[in-house]
Amino acid sequence: MLSEFLLSEMNRLGTQDALPLHRQLYEALRRAMLDGKLGPGERLPSSRDLAQDLNLSRNTVVAAINQLSVEGYLESRVGSGTYVNENVPRIHPGAAPLRPGLRSAPAAAGGLSQRGLALTGRFCASELEVQPFTPGIADFSAFPLTLWQRLQNKHWRMAYPDMLDYNTSGGYAPLRRAIADYLRVFRSVQLDADQVIVTTGTQQSLELCARLLADHGDTVWVEDPAYWGAAKAFMASGLALHPVAVDDEGIHPGPADDAQPPRLIYLTPSHQYPTGAVMSLPRRHQLLSTARAHGAWVLEDDYDSEYRFSGPPISSLEGLDTDGRVLYMGTFSKVLYPGIKLGYLVVPKPLVAAFKQAHYDLNRPGQMPLQAALAEFIEMGHFSSALRRARQSYAERRAALLEALRPVLGGEIFISGAEQGLHLCLRLPATVDDQALALRLAQQGLTVRPLSAYCLARQDLRGLVIGYGYAPLVAIQRHGPQLAAAVRALAG
Ligand SMILES: Cc1ncc(COP(=O)(O)O)c(C=O)c1O
Repeated sequence: MLSEFLLSEMNRLGTQDALPLHRQLYEALRRAMLDGKLGPGERLPSSRDLAQDLNLSRNTVVAAINQLSVEGYLESRVGSGTYVNENVPRIHPGAAPLRPGLRSAPAAAGGLSQRGLALTGRFCASELEVQPFTPGIADFSAFPLTLWQRLQNKHWRMAYPDMLDYNTSGGYAPLRRAIADYLRVFRSVQLDADQVIVTTGTQQSLELCARLLADHGDTVWVEDPAYWGAAKAFMASGLALHPVAVDDEGIHPGPADDAQPPRLIYLTPSHQYPTGAVMSLPRRHQLLSTARAHGAWVLEDDYDSEYRFSGPPISSLEGLDTDGRVLYMGTFSKVLYPGIKLGYLVVPKPLVAAFKQAHYDLNRPGQMPLQAALAEFIEMGHFSSALRRARQSYAERRAALLEALRPVLGGEIFISGAEQGLHLCLRLPATVDDQALALRLAQQGLTVRPLSAYCLARQDLRGLVIGYGYAPLVAIQRHGPQLAAAVRALAG
């Protein structure tokens, strides 16, 4: 019975966390949906019935339902009641409560390979819904959909048979030219269009590098803390991850790291993910000479360099490379929308033919009409205008978030990485339980990720990774103080 489940959950939450009644009911209903006790599309009892069954005031019930509706768990249909949204994710029955940044292992893990178990382990994407402050997400609601649709239609109408085939040349030539022009001018990458390979995004770029440049068991240095997506791509290719600590000048390998010689070094030098550190110039030169000494390839992930808000412009690491060992990758996820699944990899000239052939054999690339539409989108200046608009709007959101966080700063609480990108990192003292803090915020409908959840080996980092790309300015202004108050209560 639903009401029995809700009562027992509320009872538990009331004793455990001393939450107010409407918050207890909100949590209990949310858990009922995630556990599948209230299935997608199912009708909720009326607020009057719920109030009666649970012995609550109608206002309490309405407050909980309103919050769940705002967050997209529930939808009201005029004249017919309130229903569970069809898209509510379902977690396995009986799974432990979600902790931000952590995902419970699949219930039925039997039969998985060792690699499968490692890939479904602790270090992974969050299942948390997109809410104010979710990091890594752009505001794709601002994307010019009508224009995009028109371009798509045009290129589908023009598509000649070749455009429907697999593609052998690394992508649609005008798109590769447009990408090369952009990277040459804005990122100081040294390249010809021929060196650009269009991929389905950074994951595919990383997989290609891992498979073509390293063998099973070879070592890849990854930043610690790290982007889980890259770590997973390397694990899937059977590489041994060696975490190298990051400080405020970026990745900082020492003698102990040199004892684990790398075949590949993966890094995010423009805006380290997640701490936001910008790699200093001396550190860049040092890294390139370390790579040379080890004969290692360097994989530069320049995932959000389009957005730079303060400080001098920084160009790519690839631009400093004099012996052709940096492979540069970027994505359209942050300026257009993540589901476009288009990114690019720039490979040194001697590797171009091998990469194109392997890309063709392993991935059977295609999507030419989509690539043609994107090429025209860039050539006609729409990409630059979208970028200009987005920069302006993210700059305002970033300023609002910084303003909201200002009162909690001081001592060991400080911000890193706010110069660029779509997220910043609020650093907290090592004694703070950042996972508990993120969980507390999730209960208030605010999604942030605990910094410790990105750490591979180190134990000393605590903080919150906070996104300002997704939430509209008013939501940041509204919820920023709430975020600051929660931080002050737990960490101040
Ligand atoms: C460091 C980093 N690289 C790459 C990506 C995503 O790239 P793609 O969507 O092309 O896989 C992300 C997304 O959040 C990221 O944080």
